[in-house]
Amino acid sequence: MGSVKAYVFLLFIATLSSFTMAVPQVPCYFIFGDSLYDNGNNNHLFTEAKSDFPPYGIDHPDGPTGRFSNGRNIADVIAQLLGFENSIPPYASASGEDILRGVNYASGAAGIREESGQHLGGRISLDRQIAHHATTILKLVELIGNGSLAPVRRHLKKCIYTVAMGNNDFINNYFFPQYYKTSSLYTPEEYAEVLVQQYTQQLSKLYEYGARKLGISGAGYSGCAPAMMTRYETNGCVDAVNGAVVQFNAKLTTALVDLESKLTGAKFVYINPSLGYSPEFNVTDKPCCNVSTTIGEGQCAPNQEPCVARQNYVFWDAFHPTENISIVDGATAYATMSPFYVSQTKLKLPLSV
Ligand SMILES: *[C@@H]1O[C@H](CO)[C@@H](O)[C@H](O)[C@H]1NC(C)=O
Ligand SMILES: *[C@@H]1O[C@H](CO)[C@@H](O)[C@H](O)[C@H]1NC(C)=O
Ligand SMILES: *[C@@H]1O[C@H](CO)[C@@H](O)[C@H](O)[C@H]1NC(C)=O
Ligand SMILES: *[C@@H]1O[C@H](CO)[C@@H](O)[C@H](O)[C@H]1NC(C)=O
Repeated sequence: MGSVKAYVFLLFIATLSSFTMAVPQVPCYFIFGDSLYDNGNNNHLFTEAKSDFPPYGIDHPDGPTGRFSNGRNIADVIAQLLGFENSIPPYASASGEDILRGVNYASGAAGIREESGQHLGGRISLDRQIAHHATTILKLVELIGNGSLAPVRRHLKKCIYTVAMGNNDFINNYFFPQYYKTSSLYTPEEYAEVLVQQYTQQLSKLYEYGARKLGISGAGYSGCAPAMMTRYETNGCVDAVNGAVVQFNAKLTTALVDLESKLTGAKFVYINPSLGYSPEFNVTDKPCCNVSTTIGEGQCAPNQEPCVARQNYVFWDAFHPTENISIVDGATAYATMSPFYVSQTKLKLPLSV
C-alpha cells in the first residue's frame, strides 16, 4: 500500500511546516499557580482577588483580562518564548481543541493549603487546580484518545508543566494572623515543612496524571512587596516574611531532588523566584497604580491613571510585578527549563521579548 512512501511524504510535510510556521518547542504547556500566572480564572468568581478592570491590562492588547499586571504575566512570557503563537487559555474559558496546547489553571489568592486566601473570597486552590486538570484529561481522552488513556499519556509526557505556588500561603495565611491561625500552630521552619510535604503530594499527583517535565518556582520574597511593608508599617523589606520564604524554598529544592529520584521518568527543575532588582527598575518600593483601600489589599483602585514611567517600576500594584519584571522572570524560568527542550530544537536566543 506504499505506506513507507506515505510516511516519507508525511515526514517531508512535517519538516517543511516546521520551517514555514512557528512550531513551539513543546506541543503543550500546563500552568498551575497564583495571581502571578492567572489569566482570567478568577473573573467569574465571587472574590476580591480580581483584576478584570482598568487600569489592569493598560499595556495588554486585550485590555483588562484578569491578569494581575499592566501587560503580560510570567505565563504569557514563558509561552511566548516556547514559541506558542497565543497565550495558553484559562481553564475558565478553554474549550474544544484549545486544550491540546495546554490549559492555564492559575488563580489569584490560591495556595498550597486550601484555606489560604479565603478571607478574600473565591479562589482555586492547588488541589482544585489539579482536579480541573483531571477534567481536562477526560476531555483529551475523547479528543485524541478515542476513548482510551494510552494516547493521552503519550501526549502529556511531552508537555511542560509549571507550578508556582506558596506566595499566598505566606502573605494570605501565615503572615495574616487576624484571619489565619497557622502562625500560632507552627514555627516558620515547621510551617515550611508542612507546606513542602503537602506540595510534594500534590506534585506526585500531577506525576500520576502523566506530567514528566515540571518546572517548580520558589516562592517570591514577598516581604519586599509594598503591601507587606504597609501591613508591617515599615519602609524596608519585612525580614520575617522573607526569612520564612527562604526556609520554604530551601526545603522545596531538596524535596524536588528527592521526588525526581523516586518518580521514574520525571524531571523536576527548581526555578529561582524573582529578585526584581536591576538598575533599570529603580522604583522598588512603590506601586505604579493607585492602590484601592476597599478591594483586597494592595490591588489597583479601578479606573485611575497609573504612573507613566512603568519601565522603571518593579511593582505594578502593591503585590504584583510590572510586565517588564515578568519578562525578566519569564526569561529566567524559560532558561532554567532548557533541559526540557534544548535537545529537541535549538534554543532561541536572545531571551528578551
Ligand atoms: C476507536 O475505538 C473504536 C472502539 O474501540 C474502534 O472500533 C475504532 O476503530 C477506533 N478508531 C480509531 C480511529 O482508532
Ligand atoms: C529612575 O531612573 C530614571 C531614568 O532612567 C529617572 O528619570 C528617575 O528619576 C529614577 N527614579 C528614581 C526613583 O530613582
Ligand atoms: C493617584 O494618587 C496620587 C498620589 O496620591 C494622586 O496625586 C493622583 O491624583 C491619584 N490619581 C488619581 C487618578 O486619582
Ligand atoms: C518595557 O521595557 C522596554 C525597554 O526598556 C520599554 O521600551 C517599554 O516601554 C517597557 N514597557 C512598559 C510597559 O513599561
